[in-house]
Order: sequence, then C-alpha cells, then structure tokens
Amino acid sequence: MLYFRLTGWHAVRIVGACIVVLILFAAPTPKSPRSALDQGTYSPSSLRASSGSSYVPPWQNAEPVVENAKLFVSEKSASPQSSPPAAPKTLASDAQPPPPPPPPPPPTFSAPAITDAVADKQPVKNVVLPTTDKRSPITIFLMNIPRYHYEVVLPVLRAFSSLPSVNVTLIGGASGYTRFGVGPLLERESKPYPLQLVDERFISPKLGTPDLLFLTSCPEDIVKANKTISKWLEAGTRVQCIAHEPSKWDARSKGNSQYAEQIKYMVPWIEKGQWEIVVLAPHVQSYVQKHFPTFLGTGEKVVYKAPVIHPVFKANAVDIEVDFVEPFGAIPGKYEPWRRNYDRVFQQYAQVRPQVKLHLVGSGDNLTVPETIQNRIIYVRDLTFPEYFEHLGKSVAMIPAFGSAAYIENQASSTVATALIVGTPLLVNSTIAKAYSHIPEDAMWLQKRGQTEMDTFGDISFLPVHLWAEKKARVVEVRDKMIAANLEFFESVAQNISDSKFTSTKSTKSTKGTKPTKSAKSTKSAQASQASETVDNKVVPTAVK
Ligand SMILES: *[C@@H]1O[C@H](CO)[C@@H](O)[C@H](O)[C@H]1NC(C)=O
Ligand SMILES: *[C@@H]1O[C@H](CO)[C@@H](O)[C@H](O)[C@H]1NC(C)=O
Ligand SMILES: *[C@@H]1O[C@H](CO)[C@@H](O)[C@H](O)[C@H]1NC(C)=O
Ligand SMILES: *[C@@H]1O[C@H](CO)[C@@H](O)[C@H](O)[C@H]1NC(C)=O
Ligand SMILES: *[C@@H]1O[C@H](CO)[C@@H](O)[C@H](O)[C@H]1NC(C)=O
Repeated sequence: MLYFRLTGWHAVRIVGACIVVLILFAAPTPKSPRSALDQGTYSPSSLRASSGSSYVPPWQNAEPVVENAKLFVSEKSASPQSSPPAAPKTLASDAQPPPPPPPPPPPTFSAPAITDAVADKQPVKNVVLPTTDKRSPITIFLMNIPRYHYEVVLPVLRAFSSLPSVNVTLIGGASGYTRFGVGPLLERESKPYPLQLVDERFISPKLGTPDLLFLTSCPEDIVKANKTISKWLEAGTRVQCIAHEPSKWDARSKGNSQYAEQIKYMVPWIEKGQWEIVVLAPHVQSYVQKHFPTFLGTGEKVVYKAPVIHPVFKANAVDIEVDFVEPFGAIPGKYEPWRRNYDRVFQQYAQVRPQVKLHLVGSGDNLTVPETIQNRIIYVRDLTFPEYFEHLGKSVAMIPAFGSAAYIENQASSTVATALIVGTPLLVNSTIAKAYSHIPEDAMWLQKRGQTEMDTFGDISFLPVHLWAEKKARVVEVRDKMIAANLEFFESVAQNISDSKFTSTKSTKSTKGTKPTKSAKSTKSAQASQASETVDNKVVPTAVK
C-alpha cells in the first residue's frame, strides 16, 4: 500500500508540480516524507528532514557571530588589517546633484571594537569606502533594545549597510540579538561590512555622537537610553523613530498612554525638527497625521508626514518555491487568540474543507480545533527565524486572520511584512487591501465580495499550480521594489545629513572672513528661522508613496 492515499487530486498536483518544477526552476523534484505532517507537529529537526529542496539556505553555512551576549565594545581592541571588500552598491549616488567641493578625504572604517574571543573567530576588516564617494562619512546608530522587532531591524540595517559612506552600528539587548537564530541574519544584512554590535549595557556618550539615531522600538528605547540620547540630541544628532502602535501615543492626561513620559520627552525635539516619526504602512501614516497633533500636544506647530519604511528584506538569497507536493496555507505568529481569530478560520475551514492544509507556524499551546479537521490543521512550532521564513516561504497563501481592527486602522501587521519577506501572497479582503495600499492587489489573493477567508482559500486550492507560482513571483517583485524604496529613502536622508554637515562646517569656517552664502546656511540658523513657523515632521522628502 502506498505511504499516503494517492487521490486523483494528488496525482494532478504532483504532475503539475513536476511540470512547473521542470519548466520554471529546473530543480530536483521535491519529495516529501509525510511522517512529521501526519503526526501533526513539526520540530525544527523534522522540518529540516522533510525539506526536499536541494537549496541550502545561506545561514547554514554562515559562521554564527552573535551566538552569545559576548559582543560588546571594549576600549582596547585589535584591528587586524585586511583587504577591503567590494564597494557597496549604491542607488542613485550618481544621480545626486553635484556635491559641493572640496571632497573630504576618503573615509575609512576602523574595526568595530569587540572582544578578543570573537575577534579571533571573525577577523574584523578595515573597510575602505569607495573613493568616488564625495560625501562626508555619516555615523548611524541603529538602536533596538527590546527583544522584539528584529524583523524590522534587519531591513533597516540592510538599507544603511548598502549606502556608501555610512558607518552603522547596531545597539541592542542580548535578549534580542541572540534570539531565534537572528544573529546570522544580522550579520548577513550588514554586508559588505562586518556587523558592528554594541550591547545596551554599554550605551553611553563614550560611543561617540551619531549623526543619525534610528530607534526601531521608539518609546521602549527611550525608557532605557534617555540620558545618553539627550546628550546626543544636544550635540545635534537627528533621530528617526518608528511609531508601531500610535494609538498608544495619546500623551494627554486623559489619554492614559503608558508611554506618556517618553512622548513628552520627544516633543521638544519634534518641534525643533530634529526628531522624526516614521511608520511601517500607509494606514498608519494617515493615523499619525490625523491624531499626533492632539496626542502629542503639538497642535498646528507640527505637520506629521511620517515617511513609510517597508519592514521587508529578502529572507533567502534564492526565493523559496511553493511546496507543490504537500501544499499548505499558513497562519504565522504566536497562537494568541486576541491577535488572530483562529475560531473563525477553523469554523470556516470545517465548512469549506479546502484541499490544502493549514499550518499554524508559531509558538504556544494547542488551540481548540474542531474534531473533523484536526488532521488538517498542523502546528509548526518554535522555529528559528531562518526556519520560520523558509517554512512560510513554501506556503500557497498567508492568512492574517486578524482578530483586531487595529491592524487595519493604526498598526502595521507583522504578518503582512512576513508575507512580503518570504514572497508569499496574502489572503485578504478589500478592507485589508485598502489599508495596505502599497501592496498592489495583483500581488495578493483577494477575497471576493461575500466570500469568507476559507471560501477564497478553497478556491485557491483548486487553481492550477502555475498560478500559485506566478502570484508568488509577483509578491517577490513587489518586495524587491520596497527594498529599493527603503534604500532610496535612506539615501536621501544620508544625503541631507551629509549636506548639512558640510554646510555647517563651511559656515563655521567662514564666520570670521566672508559671509556665509545662502546655500551654506548653517543647520542652526535654519532651525532658528523655523522656530516660530510650522515644522514639517520630515527630515527629507519621502521617497516612498
Ligand atoms: C497538540 O496537537 C497535536 C496535533 O493536533 C497533538 O498531537 C498533541 O498531542 C497536542 N498536544 C497537547 C498538549 O494537547
Ligand atoms: C564607526 O562607528 C563606530 C561606533 O561609533 C566607531 O567605533 C568607529 O570608529 C567608526 N568608524 C569610523 C571610520 O568612523
Ligand atoms: C529615563 O531613564 C530613567 C532610568 O535611567 C527612567 O527612570 C526614566 O523613566 C526615563 N525617562 C524617560 C523619559 O523615559
Ligand atoms: C475584512 O476583515 C477585517 C478583519 O477581519 C474586518 O474588520 C473587515 O470588516 C473585513 N472587510 C470586509 C469587506 O469584509
Ligand atoms: C534636511 O533636513 C533639514 C532638517 O531636518 C530640513 O530642514 C531640510 O529641508 C532638509 N533638506 C533637504 C534637502 O531635504
């Protein structure tokens, strides 16, 4: 007897899979042992065993650098010499307006200060930046102190590391940067430079003054680091910070925001134009623009035009293909019923009985699953970040199953970001599609009017497999555009900072003799002239729609 029941449907799928695989990918036909699936759970090891692809994800070869909490700044660290890596690719640096002469000398990155033990394993390179780059070098501190939000740190790190003349240092807490195998990914997204990581315990003005401080967990980072951040601000550092849950930013006394203290801390700097709010999705941008003048008490003084950063990056060097043999849809994330409405999805699933299984890829205790579909709902638990992304990348559809309206009104869903990261289409209704209007509708599975999520999922399960692959390819295309948009945005931020550094240096030098020219207006005088006017909360024109 066959190991599994070979239904006509399976036969169609397998033939389809072979054709698609042969024609499109010329990769070995995936084979899929079913034992792990039949048991209803995956452990990370059985996941690896059941992955039939010949593709070896990059992190399996990567030296884990951030494997423990030992990376931190030490005063005396060696800096072994070695040849510089290839110049990082830059977007549009040629397209910039001609930079003002004279060019500063080619900047050189000194070795990041790390412990000897780590230095032995991973010799740190002296990175010489491309001499063609005429910008002043820019120092950026990327801070994320809580253990979460590393999926947002990664794309921002990628963008900063891709820019010429930018020296980026990640400041984080050990509970975050050692978690779930994120270390090798951080290292990968730092390329072509080695990851420069400073533990939160060493936050102090001694680290130097960054030109830009980017906070990926805004109020939480302030709680831990406000004394040093104040010093940096006074020294002229610009800050960008992500508002993840702006509904919690109502700092008025009746607003009861748990972050009222941190928000009041930001306000004077926001009013000065030195502190900028950024967001992760268009609907959040609208919410911030509408509510922050009252929430933060800045009234008409500040106009919030929070630029949208896309919290997406490439999960793998080679994008993962749908598992055609054992196809599944996925609901990612912790099994928390207040975030996702599992009951609704399970009930619909039991009614529709789609041909494709559902994987709950996350962590937590078993949920209540109706008896009739228990063998169709599969728990895939406790994966590392790379395993998580790899598994989700094989799914036919990603189902947000929102259990709260917040994800459509004022909060960017990490499920949406994850779908883009792994290149899997989201299954959404028109309301969700509208909130995430930066994702074109043809890169999603759209519920038809009157359909439930699982009605649509059922329809998808009967589509010819080449349509699954085509939709997935479209998601990948959109994702790559977003990564380029991030880069473009931060490129313009860096250019702006570089310009103002240059002009302020020049105007300082010129105060004795000649009058400063108009174009060489110092940042200080620019700020002073703005003091009584409306401030756009926007460091640079946004490159992202
Ligand atoms: C959780 O569900 C799986 C599959 O449905 C089952 O094998 C396992 O025994 C369950 N665990 C508990 C603690 O109920
Ligand atoms: C890059 O930034 C780190 C952290 O501030 C610093 O130790 C290092 O010296 C910087 N390198 C350059 C060339 O500025
Ligand atoms: C600043 O840090 C201290 C601890 O050092 C903390 O008690 C305080 O609440 C913080 N202030 C803000 C505005 O977060
Ligand atoms: C789409 O789903 C969201 C979240 O489940 C829900 O709030 C909204 O009303 C739905 N919209 C439509 C048109 O069904
Ligand atoms: C650069 O930033 C400053 C201050 O945030 C702003 O006033 C200025 O308009 C920006 N310049 C450009 C070219 O965007």
